[in-house]
This record gives sequence, C-alpha cells and structure tokens, in this order.
Amino acid sequence: MSLTATPDLSPEAREALAGTAVTLYSTPTCGCCREYTAYLDELGFQVETEWMEDLTPVKDDLGIPEEMRSCHTAVIEEYFVEGHVPVEAIWRLLDERPAIDGIALPGMPSGSPGMIGDKEEPFVIYSVVDGKVEEFVTMP
Ligand code: CU
Ligand code: CU
Repeated sequence: MSLTATPDLSPEAREALAGTAVTLYSTPTCGCCREYTAYLDELGFQVETEWMEDLTPVKDDLGIPEEMRSCHTAVIEEYFVEGHVPVEAIWRLLDERPAIDGIALPGMPSGSPGMIGDKEEPFVIYSVVDGKVEEFVTMP
C-alpha cells in the first residue's frame, strides 16, 4: 500500500505544499477516493471533498479527455489533478506553474497513492491543455 510510502520530496517542498487547498470530487461508493484523500491529508493538504453520484459533468467542465479519466478529480489552485497522482507530480506542477489545464494519471494503476497492490509499471502522468495531451512526467 503506497499510502504510507514516503514521497520523494524535499523538506522545503513539503513545507510549501502544506496547507494547500484541494477540492476533491468523489463518488460515495468509491473506496480508493477515500484512501487518496487520506494520502493528501497526511501530506498536509487542506482537502474538501465534494460528493457526487456522477462526476462526468465536472470532468467535462474541466476539459479532461475521456482517455485521461480516473475515479476522482481534484482541483488544486488553477489546475485539475485527475486520478491517483503521486505528490511529486503535484509538487512539480505547483512549482513550475506551466500554462496547462491540469495533469492526469489515467485509470487506477496498482501501487499508485491510494491504490492497493504493487507498482507494476512506471506511472506516466500527462498534461492536458485544451484537450491536447502530452507527457508531463514519468515516474519509474
Ligand atoms: Cu481510484
Ligand atoms: Cu478515487
């Protein structure tokens, strides 16, 4: 379970991220969303969860392409963060502030934060701008 795995973040990055507001759109039937919330909580984010039966309208509004979607959707400052994205990628996003709409880890890869199981392959996190997808970072 990667929830308790120590993220590879400098003390400065941790301090900078602590207190950052996150709105997490989540469905009440999804257990891994709760685990992901716990992961963000543990890192010091201020998480507000919005429970919804169907997240499709939220994902549509944010411009998250179908093939990039996961179970839950977070909004952190001006960006969406879709799925079980490791905090290192969130840190890079907030530190570099690229002109994009958000980042996504599609699906629910085994071993990603909030997901049970072992990591089976590198996590490829994508950036999205106006529906156009590019690789943002690969975490080996
Ligand atoms: Cu999930
Ligand atoms: Cu989820």
